[in-house]
Amino acid sequence: MGLTFAAGLSRLGHRVTCVEKDPAKLHALRHGRVPFHEPGLAELVREAREGGLLRFTDDLAGAAPTASVVFCAVGTPPKPNGEADTSAVEEVVEAARRLGSGRLFVIKSTVPVGTTDRVSRRLPGPVVYNPEFLREGSAVEDFFHPYRVVIGTRTPAAAAVLEALYRPLGAPVVRTDPPTAEMIKYASNAFLATKVSFINEIAHICEYVGADVSRVAEGMGLDPRIGPHFLRPGIGFGGSCLPKDLRALLETAREYLLEPALLQAVLRVNEAQRRRFVDRLEVLLEGLADKTVAVLGLAFKAGTDDVRESPALAVAERLLARGAQVRAHDPAALEAAARVLPALSYFAEPYEAVTGADAVLLLTDWPEYRELDWREVRRRVRRPLVVDGRSTGIAPRLAAAGFQVVEPGSPVRGRAPRAEDSEWLT
Ligand code: UDX
Repeated sequence: MGLTFAAGLSRLGHRVTCVEKDPAKLHALRHGRVPFHEPGLAELVREAREGGLLRFTDDLAGAAPTASVVFCAVGTPPKPNGEADTSAVEEVVEAARRLGSGRLFVIKSTVPVGTTDRVSRRLPGPVVYNPEFLREGSAVEDFFHPYRVVIGTRTPAAAAVLEALYRPLGAPVVRTDPPTAEMIKYASNAFLATKVSFINEIAHICEYVGADVSRVAEGMGLDPRIGPHFLRPGIGFGGSCLPKDLRALLETAREYLLEPALLQAVLRVNEAQRRRFVDRLEVLLEGLADKTVAVLGLAFKAGTDDVRESPALAVAERLLARGAQVRAHDPAALEAAARVLPALSYFAEPYEAVTGADAVLLLTDWPEYRELDWREVRRRVRRPLVVDGRSTGIAPRLAAAGFQVVEPGSPVRGRAPRAEDSEWLT
């Protein structure tokens, strides 16, 4: 997020210095390499560096004296109890405090409600909370075309500076106080997560009542009050934001002795999704022990090499635990996945990964998988079964290549639901 934002600001004509404390990342950036997969970002960074507007350092004190704005874009990863760990933000605030007054301090990191006002009391200059909404895999596009800009501050002059900064992007601006801005960020991610769990629950019901969930989503989405987005059922939401921010919001609520039942259910449905997926595969294969399963896709979504809280990895781990051999492929996330889950067999070619498989699982909706030569895949597998965990919409093509296809919403036959599966129906 920090790098995309910095490079984007450079494109808008600003001089930006990025402070990176990880020596390996800093080294890569200084040599013109972007140390993760994000479409279009390497070009944007190269252009900004060549134009002399973007540079990299590990020293905030050295970088900031001439800066009029300091943006804090560090991570706020989850603590074991789900609470957001703001220690990296605290470090940046402390460094900014030592710089003295004379510049605007802007928090872009997702921080618990109340953080910005607390930070304001410690810094001599004005402080703004300005959440970032860009998505992984389309971060560059999202930077230049934001749906909205949210500016949370108690200092009107500071709001005006940020408004001017974002004006070229032409997005609607929401000016408000810091707690409201902080809550807009959490509530937005919680709502997106809710849509995913909602359609997953509808898909689950569709499996029993004979309704086609993809047409249900299409029919619902045409109502502008509902909208067509985030209605794709599958193995659930993952990534570095949706699950983490939902847990952090729940933790904030708990501090006030609140029990937001809907938000708790969104998380529980998401966890049940992965379990149901593996249960269903186990029934289809009449047991998982010693079966060979090919996993296509490990990243938490297409367009990234990020495997943080990836539902695909959670499914793969569960398959291993039940005794399956797992042969995995991902166009970008192989190395990242191998660091987290070394017990899988990794293949650089999807056709190698599927060889000898009793089932092929689509777990990340990479466009590459839609374009596979599925007849070649059919020749290589032991059993022609594809279980689509992402509603990729290629079932007709798979069927034409001779596969049995099971996808979210496919009718469940052959067994009564277990008690744990029906928990959400009762
Ligand atoms: C999210 C927010 O969208 C973004 O605004 C915020 O700044 C950061 O968090 P991101 O984590 O990149 O972005 O992913 P997103 O596109 O929101 O997808 C999250 C997860 O939901 C993925 O695992 C995705 O596969 C899943 N998803 C999404 C579904 O399962 N079904 C859908 O219909 C949509």
